[in-house]
Amino acid sequence: MKSTEIRDGYLNFFHSKGLPIKPSSSLIPHSDPTLLFTSAGMVQFKANFLGIDDSLKNAASCQKCVRTTDIDSVGFTERHLTFFEMLGNFSFGDYFKKEAIDWAWEYLTKTLHIPADKLYVSIYKGGIAPRDEEAYNQWLKYVPAERIFELGEADNFWTMGPTGPCGPCTEIYYDFGDKGCKNPHCDITCDCGRFVEIWNIVFESYNRQEDGTFKPLPHNNIDTGMGLERLCMVMQKVNNIFETDLFTPIINQAKQDLHLKGETKEEISSLRIIADHVRSSSFLIAEGILPSNEGRGYILRRLIRRAARYARLMGADKPYLYTLAPKVKEIFNGLYPEIDKNMPHIQDVLKMEETTFLKTLVTGEEKLSALLADGADTLSGEEAFHLHETYGFPLELTKEIASAKGVKVDEAGYEKAKAAAQAKSRSYADEMTKDKAYMMQHVETHNPATVFTGYDTLTDDGTVLMLLNEKFELTDEVSGTGYAVFDKTPFYAESGGQVGDKGSVLSDGKEIARVEDVQKPISKVFLHKISGTLKKGQKVRLCVDAALRKRCMANHSAIHLVNAALRQVFGTGVHQSGSFVSPERFRFDYTLSRTPKAEELNRAWEIANRAVEAALPVNCQVRPLADAEKLGAVTLLGETYADPARFVLMGGSFEHPQDKYSLELCAGTHVKNTADVMTVLVLKESSVSAGVRRIEGVAGAAALDYLKNVNLQAETLAARLEVPSKDVFTRVNAIMDELKEVKKRYMQFRERTLAAGGVDEMSFTLKNGVNLVVRKADGAEPKELRNIADTIAQKYQKAVVLVSCDKDGKRAFVVKTVGKFEHIDAVTVAKQIAADLNGRAGGRADFAQGGGEAKRPWQELVAGLKDTL
Ligand code: ALA
Repeated sequence: MKSTEIRDGYLNFFHSKGLPIKPSSSLIPHSDPTLLFTSAGMVQFKANFLGIDDSLKNAASCQKCVRTTDIDSVGFTERHLTFFEMLGNFSFGDYFKKEAIDWAWEYLTKTLHIPADKLYVSIYKGGIAPRDEEAYNQWLKYVPAERIFELGEADNFWTMGPTGPCGPCTEIYYDFGDKGCKNPHCDITCDCGRFVEIWNIVFESYNRQEDGTFKPLPHNNIDTGMGLERLCMVMQKVNNIFETDLFTPIINQAKQDLHLKGETKEEISSLRIIADHVRSSSFLIAEGILPSNEGRGYILRRLIRRAARYARLMGADKPYLYTLAPKVKEIFNGLYPEIDKNMPHIQDVLKMEETTFLKTLVTGEEKLSALLADGADTLSGEEAFHLHETYGFPLELTKEIASAKGVKVDEAGYEKAKAAAQAKSRSYADEMTKDKAYMMQHVETHNPATVFTGYDTLTDDGTVLMLLNEKFELTDEVSGTGYAVFDKTPFYAESGGQVGDKGSVLSDGKEIARVEDVQKPISKVFLHKISGTLKKGQKVRLCVDAALRKRCMANHSAIHLVNAALRQVFGTGVHQSGSFVSPERFRFDYTLSRTPKAEELNRAWEIANRAVEAALPVNCQVRPLADAEKLGAVTLLGETYADPARFVLMGGSFEHPQDKYSLELCAGTHVKNTADVMTVLVLKESSVSAGVRRIEGVAGAAALDYLKNVNLQAETLAARLEVPSKDVFTRVNAIMDELKEVKKRYMQFRERTLAAGGVDEMSFTLKNGVNLVVRKADGAEPKELRNIADTIAQKYQKAVVLVSCDKDGKRAFVVKTVGKFEHIDAVTVAKQIAADLNGRAGGRADFAQGGGEAKRPWQELVAGLKDTL
């Protein structure tokens, strides 16, 4: 049975039981800022479990999930994955233990015809909550007592995290028969692989608090999760998940490309790692995540780099993973449109990250050899971890290379550094405290969707529906700072990169509060940050600061102009990967796998400004989402749009979309005509990370302010330079040239003076006419020492010249030899001196440089030397 049939069959079964089928939510848990990724089917239903959303009684889904806590085990076991699909059915105060167990049994034994004697179950034996009597008795209807196991918290009490919905669970295991340890006493508690847990049914009745105690949830819930991959393993009668049709297309392709049989342990784990990580990376990239050094991007980077390293171990000598991504599309066969639609982008990102990584890997190998060459017998844990994180060197590889050179690796130090890095990626989830997150859910579910009237007006009347104080607690009155929800508002809430509006709240024509910012913490309800006095139920007039809003609109429209211009220049493969719009400026990030040429960028700015000059009408319309494709609208990767959605059209008309300049799905506020953008000034172009470029600029009145300011500076500068402003640049160029010449001459003069000798020179004429000259050139820069030594050396036929300068307790020095010496050379002399100064030195036979502590007088340092020369 194919995975597609299993997935569909599962959903059909629960649909026939009356459950609505909900589509998988995004891998980015937009409604739960406490999570990095969607890690279970229940995540999208958290508010339903908590009882703050009562719009659903039950549901079933197939949810795409990412879990990366066990990333290092993936490849080395038969069941660990970073990306998987979870088949779930959920009840929010509706059906409970009896139905959940009956249906699970019916589905497995009647629909899938899995022999009943292959199934085992476990229930919660009691501990922090009472034994699960009810589940036990229900199972007795189907399963003999000897196949029902009673286990503790570790196995049969499920929690979604340190806080939140949780409860006892019952698990269903499948017996793979003669697989595994073959011990006659082997049972479901043995992890040899014979018994595989396929289904977890959680009876969520509690809400775990920050202090670890449990509070009952408003109602009893069911949360079930069955790994599609494991079920496929059972139904396709294969030995492990990697042999199911969810992985074989990738694994077979990789075997063929890399000429592998896939029989050795090393080959098997490498192929599994590649297959799993290509799947998870493709899904993450399809949601708009890009490799980076923090948060979600950091996880994506680790996945790609880990897979790339194993591909390299298997003989791939150039970027390879991207060639496998189309297999992900083949596996899911249209089920996840984000994969199909974004395949070129997925491949671009994979290729770019792998290319960057391969470069750093070579540097890493060099770095490791350098670390091992310094003679220490232990490599510090921090260095080993740095190699792992930056160059993708696993500890095992570092240990192997190090031990070949007789060097140990400080593993405890490695673990410490690793824990610190993990804390870094976790801190993302901790950004918003759990209490605050809970309150945001409360705000969202206890208010009607805020009506936004700010596209058409900047002043409107509203009623205060809810107030929170500074600490995010509910209150009936705010005096000072706090947060307010109104039934309707002309204030734009920060979203799509555009900052929230500012303005004032009036009562009887008088200002009673200021609005400092507006956010949409979850999705429908606007939260206004206010300072002033407001009461719940009060009717007020809301006034947006029109000047600021106008500047925001010009900057936002400028982004659309720039986006379209970049697509004209670089092609439609360019994706927006982030943006920021405020009254003062705009920032636009886009994907491009190479450094743009100056003339390409200039062409883009030209195009954008031509569109300003052309005074194109800007039309915004709310239309069915399906029109996006028909009209050729630009959408953002990983963004879920409302249906209907808002279309922003510049140039042309909705009747004649082919004449358009730009069409984007966007909820932001825009000018009515591109002429109102006035001008698009690009102030900076830079690289954000591999494959992502950034443009920073300014438009509208803010651009005029900017130009005025630049003009003022030019005038001031012209006055200072005593030239007309049009000649400022010629004058500055001339001054720079002059300055360069003066500096050069000064340096020559200085070196000559320092080389000319004086009180700080010691000169010894030794046997055979050899000279030993020591010059203390304090006040010179270390980089000048060489020239000074050269000048001194000109005076001698055969000499050792030492020049040094001391600064802040440190000594830099050079050693130069003139003529031929048998027993000594410059490097040896320099190393000996450096050793006496606790420092280091290096160089060639006739010239060396070094440094150390400025501690011992030169007489002492060269005492021994006099005899050797
Ligand atoms: N939420 C439960 C799990 O992830 C079903 O196992």
